[in-house]
Amino acid sequence: MSADLLIDPGLVAALRRARHVAVLTGAGVSAESGIPTFRDAQTGLWASFSPEDLASPAGFRRNPRRVWEWYAWRRELVAQAAPNPGHLALAELARYVPQLTLITQNVDGLHQRAGSEAVIELHGNIGRVVCAEEGGVVEQWDESGGELPPRCPRCGAHLRPDVVWFGELLPEAAMAAAWAAARSCDLFLSIGTSGLVEPAASLPRAAMQAGATVAVINLDVTTAARPPLYTLNARSGELLPALLRAAWDDTPP
Ligand code: OAD
Repeated sequence: MSADLLIDPGLVAALRRARHVAVLTGAGVSAESGIPTFRDAQTGLWASFSPEDLASPAGFRRNPRRVWEWYAWRRELVAQAAPNPGHLALAELARYVPQLTLITQNVDGLHQRAGSEAVIELHGNIGRVVCAEEGGVVEQWDESGGELPPRCPRCGAHLRPDVVWFGELLPEAAMAAAWAAARSCDLFLSIGTSGLVEPAASLPRAAMQAGATVAVINLDVTTAARPPLYTLNARSGELLPALLRAAWDDTPP
């Protein structure tokens, strides 16, 4: 079914009158850019790799080279990917609403490459590398010796990707900003996330408890309109442009 037909007029009205829209995105938003999600049965990363071995401090301690190489592979995937119409629609949405807070669990930086600003990255960014001991960002490092992971030029400890691993705390400032946005927005869009990983998974509920309208756009939901909750079974790259068309096609920003 065409994405336009899935969009309930009540959701369009809520979007048009919203003063503050908060958006939480997950891996599903980047799927149409060719980046694997985590839990999709056939194509998700966790179907082929073990999160404990590859996305945890213990896994890194056990085999730092394997973890470094896995993230180098994912960094290459991201470098070859391009923002899709879903990313671009979210960047354009900022021009139509008085306040937009974009919160992402994704570490691929595609929202920023699509033009979104002030993106709240709850799980870090695969494009940044930090010292595993000091935590500081390292811009340049030497891989000529062949040792992987490379060593911190300041203290000699291993380098690691600047992403949140299982068992690690999320960046405090990012989480505080995300909670504040969820509790103060009029409309909360949860897009392309399975909603299984806390604390991000609690944001839509917090928004609804604070009186916001919530729309969930995903491939594993049934399309339904039960205000203040709307669920739309659609690809974000199709649904988000359709949503902007439905709301503002006759009134440019
Ligand atoms: P998941 O892989 O758990 O969920 C992706 C969701 O997107 C699924 O519900 C899919 O049905 C849906 N989906 C797939 N393609 C889509 C599309 N084109 N349009 C809309 N929806 C689509 O990924 P996340 O929910 O993002 O954490 O996972 C949350 C966190 O768990 C990740 O950030 C990562 C992982 O462990 C860390 O790395 C810390």
